Amino acid sequence: MDQISDIKTVGVIGAGTMGQGIAHVLLRAGYAVLLQDVSEKYLKRGSDRILLGLGRDVDKGRLNEQQRQQAVERLETTIRLDGLAAAQFIIEAVTEDFNVKSDVFRALDEACGPNVIFASNTSSLSITRLAAVTRRSDRFVGLHFFNPVPVMKLVEIVPGLQTSAPTLSLAKELATSLGKTPVLANDFPGFISNRVLMPMINEAIYALMEGVAEPQAIDEVMKLGMNHPMGPLELADFIGLDVCLDIMKVLYDGFHDSKYRPCPLLEKMVNAGWLGRKTGKGFYQYKAQ
Ligand code: CAA
Repeated sequence: MDQISDIKTVGVIGAGTMGQGIAHVLLRAGYAVLLQDVSEKYLKRGSDRILLGLGRDVDKGRLNEQQRQQAVERLETTIRLDGLAAAQFIIEAVTEDFNVKSDVFRALDEACGPNVIFASNTSSLSITRLAAVTRRSDRFVGLHFFNPVPVMKLVEIVPGLQTSAPTLSLAKELATSLGKTPVLANDFPGFISNRVLMPMINEAIYALMEGVAEPQAIDEVMKLGMNHPMGPLELADFIGLDVCLDIMKVLYDGFHDSKYRPCPLLEKMVNAGWLGRKTGKGFYQYKAQ
């Protein structure tokens, strides 16, 4: 399986925001998708959102009605990990927790043939370490998508120490076939994206905590002065404050450098359950999702 043309069916593990987005762009690009999650409820919610997204693609002229219909028919869901055995390439997008992800990969390693390639959508965990829990560490790669996946052009491609050259080039080709731009980042905590983004968000939270300005002012400065589409606090709410804190901890633990110390206000807000958009409260108020 060293050719992109050998990949017809892609497994996606996790029907949350990232899994939905990844499945959506795969279907749109002509792949069959096996979407797995632990409950029918999550699968139903995930596939409903994917179908809505495909409908929007027709409204916007990105797909015609026949292409939408065919894409819908190429989507299958399963609550079993071994239900992904027919896929040639599998992308994991479950909770950002090393133990959860490694349990998934161990089970998947048992269920799938040895040629199947595994990719993790982790935003900061070590690909080298995740790959090592499988017996196919040469066929393991990081494929880091960005939210909202159907809109964001970037995919960070992260080889672990063990990733083979054919696996790496296949991962790049897969990203390109989805209309994305792959950018290579070596396996260091946070890769490129979160090593740069998260300290900026963390610093914005320090600025708020120290009373430099109100949240709106901090965000306005970065939007109007630096042309960012969202200010850092608005973006933190969008990503999830728990996710931001987890990534800061990965940076802090990985580099042992105090410049990555999570802001105490970020920790407090996570402890309060104020996680941003998904809970209805973060730096701003939202209608709970
Ligand atoms: N899901 C799917 N599509 C969405 C969406 C969502 N949550 N939010 C917006 N869109 C789509 C809209 O449907 C619209 O698409 P079409 O009209 O072409 O169908 C398009 O995005 C533009 O939307 P809007 O005009 O309504 O809004 P906007 O111009 O304000 O853009 C945005 C919205 C694209 C989210 C923009 O604000 C933006 O780029 N924000 C920054 C996003 C970002 O930085 N993401 C990376 C986060 S970090 C990450 O994901 C990885 C990590 O490891 C933490």
